Amino acid sequence: MRVVVHDRYGPPEVLRIEEAPAPTPAAGEVLVRVHATTVTQTDCHMRRAQPFVWRFLLGLRRPKRRVLGLEFAGVVEAVGTGVTAYAEGDRVFGLRGGAHADYICVREAGLMAHIPEGTTFVGAAALCDGVSQAWGHLNAGAVGTGTRLLVYGASGSCGTAAVQLGRHLGAHVTAVCTAKNVELMRTLGADAVIDYAQEDFTRNGATYDVILDAVGKYSFLRSRRSLAPRGRFVPTDGLHNVAFAIATRWFGGRKVVGMKPGMGYSREKVLLVKALVEEGRYRPVVDRSYPIEDVVAATRYVESWQKTGNVVMTLDAAVG
Ligand SMILES: NC(=O)c1ccc[n+]([C@@H]2O[C@H](COP(=O)([O-])OP(=O)(O)OC[C@H]3O[C@@H](n4cnc5c(N)ncnc54)[C@H](OP(=O)(O)O)[C@@H]3O)[C@@H](O)[C@H]2O)c1
Repeated sequence: MRVVVHDRYGPPEVLRIEEAPAPTPAAGEVLVRVHATTVTQTDCHMRRAQPFVWRFLLGLRRPKRRVLGLEFAGVVEAVGTGVTAYAEGDRVFGLRGGAHADYICVREAGLMAHIPEGTTFVGAAALCDGVSQAWGHLNAGAVGTGTRLLVYGASGSCGTAAVQLGRHLGAHVTAVCTAKNVELMRTLGADAVIDYAQEDFTRNGATYDVILDAVGKYSFLRSRRSLAPRGRFVPTDGLHNVAFAIATRWFGGRKVVGMKPGMGYSREKVLLVKALVEEGRYRPVVDRSYPIEDVVAATRYVESWQKTGNVVMTLDAAVG
């Protein structure tokens, strides 16, 4: 089978395709033939090992985990002994490290579910990562019914999920993006949309209970005057925000709050997004889809920070 590997940290060009033996499912595992996966900012952080702290997890000098990728959508090829929830031929999606490969083994009780009726492999591959990030961050910000929520970077993977999930939670959602994505934000259910090239949301007099920086490019200090007196700024990136979170815990009404351990990837979130798609209350946003052979080009596009929603990589020409 084909796997995308990297033997050193660096730019997208360190990625290459190599042949490897297909895995065999152990007891309680399912062998999935991957039809589609995604290239995410997480893959890019890991491949570059930036920020440096990633190296303490991934390997100090070189990556211990050579295969990136987390989201997958595909078909069950075989099941290990004891598996009852899945059968050969089932269409499945979920999260599993090392998904940039033709085949992966996933635990039956792992982060996997059946693909909702009517959803393509390309769409299903883009369901979990953004939702996991967005749901965790919205929970960290205690977003609920009536919360005035502003999503900065609303057109990215995390952002498009946050806009839809914010509505699901009953918040009043203001999406901030550029003109090309304004219409998309409306179709995703945003109550208000601000084109940040035309309007600085910190100067329009409006205040919000929660400002979610879904793209990791805004700052607590800049957004302070747009936060309600007990408002929360929720960043998705930036080690300096840890210091702000500690400092604001003790001083001042406005807080910086982040996801806590356990708020990220989980089986519950995979099942949540499956249910929301089935109820017609969530849809994955896919910008472009590349064949696996173009993994370097796909990765370069993700690193441009210009993707709208998600970038999918297909492993079966028939689903591209
Ligand atoms: N995939 C995930 O969900 C995931 C997982 C783990 C961590 N994270 C972290 O979460 C953050 C977001 O990741 P992502 O994958 O959602 O990002 P992304 O999809 O790559 O974000 C791209 C979007 O961000 C907008 N953007 C780019 N520069 C901007 C700026 N300066 N100000 C405002 N908007 C800007 C662009 O739209 P416009 O042209 O409309 O501005 C584009 O649509 C990152 O910090 C990442 O490290 C994300």
